[in-house]
Amino acid sequence: MATKAARSTNASKLSAKTTRSVKRTPPENFSDSYWHNQPKWLNGTSVSYHDARFLFREAFQHARSPIVEIGTASGFSTGLLCHAMHFAAKSGRVEPDYDIVTYDIDVDFFANKTKRSGDAAREQLPAALLKRVTFRSPAVAYDAARDFGRGGIGFMFIDACHEHPWPVLDLLATLDSLANGAVVVLHDINLPIIHPEFPGWGAKFLFDGVHLEKRLSNDPDDKEIPNIGAIVIPANRRRLRAELLDILFHHPWTQKVSEAYLKAIGIDTSSRNKIVLSTEDTENPQG
Ligand SMILES: C[S@@+](CC[C@H](N)C(=O)[O-])C[C@H]1O[C@@H](n2cnc3c(N)ncnc32)[C@H](O)[C@@H]1O
Repeated sequence: MATKAARSTNASKLSAKTTRSVKRTPPENFSDSYWHNQPKWLNGTSVSYHDARFLFREAFQHARSPIVEIGTASGFSTGLLCHAMHFAAKSGRVEPDYDIVTYDIDVDFFANKTKRSGDAAREQLPAALLKRVTFRSPAVAYDAARDFGRGGIGFMFIDACHEHPWPVLDLLATLDSLANGAVVVLHDINLPIIHPEFPGWGAKFLFDGVHLEKRLSNDPDDKEIPNIGAIVIPANRRRLRAELLDILFHHPWTQKVSEAYLKAIGIDTSSRNKIVLSTEDTENPQG
């Protein structure tokens, strides 16, 4: 039987080996195989191959628990985020008891009502990783802010309603809950340019409008117009909040938002006279 000292030497050799193998494996390799193994029923509704690489790399390199995702849908991106944290934990950069909490306004997966929001993560993740994920639905960014309180969110992925003003509202709702230096990844930052049939300008207005440290894919294979980007949340939120309010009121809203929701997330509703509602104003469940 191995002595305690031998067991501990073996354990540290094993952990050094794991760390080396994690370091040797470019995150892209894992992201690529996870992307190729996505369930067929997703039917192209989740992040693209290159966007998955970017999301995985950002979460792996800037791993901080808890990760919050706004917009679970199938749960494919949730599983990807969970794996990025798993690799980060293996390399000792985050604690193994990391948390991923994902929020969706809809209990069911929007593109296939026989599936629940998050089912791809339930199908793809091994049990030990799935334990690290909490699925919250129906729930929105406001709930995330309440769940974590001031400075409690380490990393966030916003991929919910892409029409203005929702991406800006999602960030405003959670702004005080983000840790200093937290990375926020935004999806669909060029959606209406790449797919003019989807007029979701919200993430583009947000990403283009903020003056912050930003990152886009630097993957040499990625020849597409970038549709995912990361911003870094500064310690001083005053200027950022003012900038977000400017973006919020500068562009026409293509979704109605209830007064109660605006009030709940601290938006001064007397500023509503500045809101220009688009003629194609559409209803949102929260409207
Ligand atoms: C584009 S899908 C998310 C895709 C997912 N992140 C992935 O990559 O597989 C958008 C999701 O956001 C949800 N959603 C829409 N508005 C929302 C809101 N205000 N808060 C939370 N979720 C919302 C929708 O129900 C939908 O499931």
